[in-house]
Amino acid sequence: MLVRLSAFFLATVFLMSFAARAADAVPGPDPHSLANTQDFRVRHLSLDLTADFTHKRLAGYVDLQLQRLDPAARQVVLDTRELTVSAVEQLGKPAQALKFRLGEAQPILGAPLYIDLPASSTAQELTLRVHYQTSPQASGLQWLDPSQTAGKQHPYLYSQSQAIHARSWIPLQDTPQVRLTYDAHIRTPPQLMAVMSAANDPDAKRNGDYRFEMPQAIPSYLIALGVGDLVFKPIGSRTGVYAEPGVVESAAHEFADVESMIEACEKLFGPYRWGRYDLLILPPSFMWGGMENPRLTFLTPTVIAGDRSLVSLIAHELAHSWSGNLVTNANWDSMWLNEGFTVYLERRIIEALYGKERYEMEDVLGLQSLQRDVASLTAAGDGALTRLVVDLKGRDPDDAFSEVPYEKGRLFLGFLESRLGRAELDKFLRGYFDRFAFQSVSTQTFIDYLAEHELNRPSARVSLAEVNVWLDEPGIPSLAVLPHSEAFTRIDLQRDAWLKGQRKAGDLATAKWTTYEWLHFLDNLPADLAGARLGELDAAFHLTASTNAMVAHSWLLDAIRAGYAPAWPRLEQYLTSIGRRKLVKDLYEELLKTPDGKQMAQRIYAKARPLYQIPLVQQLDELIGKPAY
Ligand code: BES
Ligand code: ZN
Repeated sequence: MLVRLSAFFLATVFLMSFAARAADAVPGPDPHSLANTQDFRVRHLSLDLTADFTHKRLAGYVDLQLQRLDPAARQVVLDTRELTVSAVEQLGKPAQALKFRLGEAQPILGAPLYIDLPASSTAQELTLRVHYQTSPQASGLQWLDPSQTAGKQHPYLYSQSQAIHARSWIPLQDTPQVRLTYDAHIRTPPQLMAVMSAANDPDAKRNGDYRFEMPQAIPSYLIALGVGDLVFKPIGSRTGVYAEPGVVESAAHEFADVESMIEACEKLFGPYRWGRYDLLILPPSFMWGGMENPRLTFLTPTVIAGDRSLVSLIAHELAHSWSGNLVTNANWDSMWLNEGFTVYLERRIIEALYGKERYEMEDVLGLQSLQRDVASLTAAGDGALTRLVVDLKGRDPDDAFSEVPYEKGRLFLGFLESRLGRAELDKFLRGYFDRFAFQSVSTQTFIDYLAEHELNRPSARVSLAEVNVWLDEPGIPSLAVLPHSEAFTRIDLQRDAWLKGQRKAGDLATAKWTTYEWLHFLDNLPADLAGARLGELDAAFHLTASTNAMVAHSWLLDAIRAGYAPAWPRLEQYLTSIGRRKLVKDLYEELLKTPDGKQMAQRIYAKARPLYQIPLVQQLDELIGKPAY
C-alpha cells in the first residue's frame, strides 16, 4: 500500500504535517515509560503467577519474548513499580542467569529494571524470564477482604493497568506504543475463579488452576486479571456476565441489551474482532465506571440501577473494542484518540438502540460535565489540560484526568460529522479502524489519515487550520456544534416555575422523568439554594433515598451545597460504600469548601479509606489529608 503512494503525495503530506505539528511528527519515546523500546520490543509474554491472598501478592515469573531492533543493544530496560525481582535468566539450552539491577524509583514512573545481556548475545529473538513478586501496595492491584465484597465470604483481587499501572504487577515495556500477545497460568485458592482480558472458559473447572491465552496483540494497559467467588451467566451467544453469585442475576438482567449494542456498532463501524464480549462485575471499590479490558470489560456495580438507565457505560466500554483496543493511542498525551472517539461511538450506539431523544439528553449531560471541567481546570491554572492534545510529561496521567479528551473529543468528531455528513464520517471512521487495526497511532497519524481522505482534497470541507484549532487551542472552540435537548428545555421550564414559587414540588410533572431528566434537573439547581427548598423536593420525591448511584450523586452534591442536613447519613453511607472516583471525589471537594464540611469530609474519609482503590487513596490523601489512625 505504502509503496504505491506517489512520492509527490508523500512529500506533500509530510511537508503539511511537518509545518503544522513539527513537535509531534513521529511518535517518539513515550514520556511515561522508561523502557528502551527502540532497542528491543516485547512481542509476547507468558505469565506464571500465584495469587497469595494471605500476603496480598502475586508471585512467580514472566517470560518476555523480545525482538532486538538495534543489533548493538546489550541491555534491556523494563518498567517496574514496587516489584521485588529475585532473578533474571535468558531461556535457552542451557538457560543462563543474567545480571540485573533495579534503578532508583521515580515518583511517577517507577523503577527501571536494567538487564544485561552477554556481549556475545546477538540473537534477533530472545526470551527472558524474570522471577518477581508484587508489593501489597501495588498501584495496579486491589486486594479486597471478604468484607469488601458482595458475598462477604471470599476475598477478591482485581487489576487496573491503565494508564501506567501494569508495571506494578508485571515487569514489561509499559507503553501503549508496544503491542503484545500473552498467555497466563494463574494459581488461586481452589474455591476462587480467575478471569483475564483473554480467552476465558466460562465452564472452567473451579480448582484454583487457570490458563488463558490472548492471541491478539494488545497494549500493556489492557492486560487484566480478576479473581474472586465468580460465577458466569450467559446473556447472548457471545456475551455474558462474571460476577459474585449474589450479583450475577441482576447484572445479567441489567445488561441484556449488550448483544444489540454489539450489532449496532458492527453495522456502523465494522466487525467486532475479539470473539467473546463478557463483563466482569467488580466490588464497589473499583475506582472507574468501566474498563475496556479486551473480551472482558471490568465494571463498577454502581451501574446496576435496576432499570437499565446507566447502560451507556457498557456502550462506552464496548465501543473501545474499535476505538482504543483495535486502534490505540500511542501515548497518553493523545488519549483523546481513545476516549473522544469512544464517546462519539457510544452516543451513536445509544441513538441506534434507544432513539434520538435519549441520545440528545446523554449528549447534553456530557457537554455540561465538559463545561464544568473546562471552567474548573481554567480556574485552577490548569488551562493547558483543556487542549485535546496535552503535554503530560512529568505528570501522572491519573492526576491529569478530565472530561476533556472524552467530551471535547466527541465534539470534534461531531464537528467533522457536521461538515462531512454522517454517512461520510461513518465511512471514514470505518476505514480508519480497518487501516490501523491492531496498531497504535499518534495524533499525527490521525491527521495524516484525515489529510489523505479529506483535508488534501480539492473540495475539502474541513481545513487543517480548523483541525489544529481543535487539537491545540484550549477550551471549547467556537467551531463546535453543541448538542441540544428539547426534553431538557422542558425540564428547565419546570425547574424555573418551581424556583419562582409558581409551582409546588409535588405538582411538577415528574411521572415520566427518566434518570437523565432527573440528572439535568438536579445538576442545574442554583448554587445558593436554601436547604429548606431541597427539603421540599425530598418530601415529594424521596431523593435522599434514591438507589440510583448517579441520581444520588447529583442530589448529594446539591445537599452539600445547600447545607441540607437530613442527607448527611445518606452521604456518609454513600461515601463509605462506593469507591468510584467520578462519584465520590467531587463530593469530598464540595465538602472541603466549608470548615464544617471539611470536618465531615475528614471524619467520613477516615472510615471510607480502606474501601478505596490505591490510586484514589493517593489522590484523596492529597486532597483531604491522610487520616491519623
Ligand atoms: N478507559 C477508561 C477508564 C480509564 C481512563 C482508566 C483513564 C484509567 C485511566 C474507561 O473506558 C472509561 O472511560 N470509563 C469511564 C466511563 C465512561 C462512560 C466515560 C469511567 O470510568 O467513568
Ligand atoms: Zn473510555
